[in-house]
Amino acid sequence: MIGRLNHVAIAVPDLKAASALYANSLGASVSAPQAEPAHGVTVVFITLPNTKIELLEPLGENSPIASFLQKNPSGGIHHVCYEVADILTARDKLKASGARVLGDGEPKIGAHGKPVLFLHPKDFNGTLIELEQA
Ligand code: CO
Repeated sequence: MIGRLNHVAIAVPDLKAASALYANSLGASVSAPQAEPAHGVTVVFITLPNTKIELLEPLGENSPIASFLQKNPSGGIHHVCYEVADILTARDKLKASGARVLGDGEPKIGAHGKPVLFLHPKDFNGTLIELEQA
């Protein structure tokens, strides 16, 4: 059911420093920061030949990555995003198998302008999974 790896998201305490690290030390192509107030993050996109990396910095008071950064002060891998052809079909199949979908269970529009859902990390080996309709 899942298709390509769309991106790996890394939560960082300092987006400017993390962007410079990827641009200068790793020689990657790094975008300008993009504020996503609806998701409580500022995002930088790093384009690799076969996938993307997203650096996430908290934005606003109730950022969903704030508690993650409290536990991981220097940052860390926050989630992986897999592409699916039909997000509602994927959601219904996962729910029928007992997996928990976060939030109200309805897809939201993600940073790439496409519908996304998140699956509970306790149901997937401690990994927060984002599904994106490709
Ligand atoms: Co993501």
